[in-house]
Amino acid sequence: MEKLVVHGGYKLKGTVNISGSKNASLPILAASLLTDESVFIRRVPDVSDTNFMVQIMGQLGASVERFSGNVRVEAKNLHSQATYEQVRKMRASICLMGPLMARMKQCVIPLPGGCVIGDRPVDLHIKAIQALGATVNIDKGNLIISAPNGLTGATIDLRGDHGPTVLGTDNLMMAAVLAKGTTVIESAAAEPEVVDLADFLIKMGAKIEGAGTRRIVIEGVEKLHGCTHTVIPDRIEAGTFMVAAAMMGEGVTLRRICEEHMLSITELLRQCGHTITFNDKGDTAVVESAQTAKPAELTTAPYPGYPTDMQAQMTALLAITEGISVVKETIFPQRFMHCSELKRMGANIKVANGTAVITGVNQLSGAPVMASDLRASAALVLAALKAEGTTEIHRLYHIDRGYELIDEKLLSIGANVERLVDEEEQ
Ligand code: EPU
Repeated sequence: MEKLVVHGGYKLKGTVNISGSKNASLPILAASLLTDESVFIRRVPDVSDTNFMVQIMGQLGASVERFSGNVRVEAKNLHSQATYEQVRKMRASICLMGPLMARMKQCVIPLPGGCVIGDRPVDLHIKAIQALGATVNIDKGNLIISAPNGLTGATIDLRGDHGPTVLGTDNLMMAAVLAKGTTVIESAAAEPEVVDLADFLIKMGAKIEGAGTRRIVIEGVEKLHGCTHTVIPDRIEAGTFMVAAAMMGEGVTLRRICEEHMLSITELLRQCGHTITFNDKGDTAVVESAQTAKPAELTTAPYPGYPTDMQAQMTALLAITEGISVVKETIFPQRFMHCSELKRMGANIKVANGTAVITGVNQLSGAPVMASDLRASAALVLAALKAEGTTEIHRLYHIDRGYELIDEKLLSIGANVERLVDEEEQ
């Protein structure tokens, strides 16, 4: 295993290129199984989650080639059974259900287990596929799904206790594009990644209206064809670098981003006093750190609200912002693992009932810390950049799931970080 050693206190300056979105790439890769023609996807980030997806697709029979951020998929002959060994590595493999059902009329997908950020049920995915006429049984930890006569469109309300479901909306959209008749998704997720998937499916010949709103209407078609698509910029990676620049920057420029997708993140950073200036196209921004930053109150919410995937990083920033800040997590109320590690670095944070109350401190100090999930690890890296002394972040594989070349990108803007073999974790 590897660890990241961060020597804190180095100012950040320069330009970072933001990668394509991990969370858009995963369902788009899965959706490429909907046709037997060749599909070409650009700007797929080289992170371990997209690698897991490519591996699983290969094991399902697709031919997948990867080079310079591009992925070419040709799924001529597929089989419909994913193994637990493959699926347990990545919860997002549940989004293979929709394409496999649309194409094969049956599939076996191991139930993904729990996860450190919360319970993460799949009841809404099951409800959706059942509504399209499939039968679902659970046997030995596997979802066994079958619709021998094919899927038929229906109206489905996908709202759960914590709001809409992103991958649930994706799964239903992918199942419905080849179903008979019309499917209406009520309470759909409206995240930019859902819109990117819909754009990709439309390029393949699907008939979809309303992606990006709470009501998506899909008219099933007979067949989909190959296409070329470029994945949207990763708004969470961009947000993470914006927070790094707000904490330690002396003028950091982010390129290949999308202003419109980041409004809730930039609004909050501006409220704290940091300056973010976009170019006219909205694809480049310069971030300047405030002389005296202000605390904030934030509540995570489905898009266009403040994203849960940017909660941990903002918590790290607020931990060193003078005053009292309040962070409420409504999507995954248990997603506060980073707080215990930040406390080991000197942060003053109290977590109860899905809310963190943060009393900003002047300085953090380097410490050995443990990454627990992708965004929690990002928060630890951010805190470590600011901290006095050296921080060792163990279990670096968590961050490699979703941040492409994070150490290289940080080095290129002046951070002092080293990726080393972790002798303690071997
Ligand atoms: N939920 C249910 N039942 C379901 C599905 C979801 O109750 O069947 C609940 C969840 O427990 C949660 C809420 O609905 O409380 C929203 O979860 P959602 O289904 O939207 O999450 P997801 O689609 O599994 C994606 C991202 C996550 C991100 C969430 C929320 C991908 C691959 N993953 O997960 O990203 O946190 O949406 O925005 O797109 C990350 O990148 O670090 C990450 C965890």
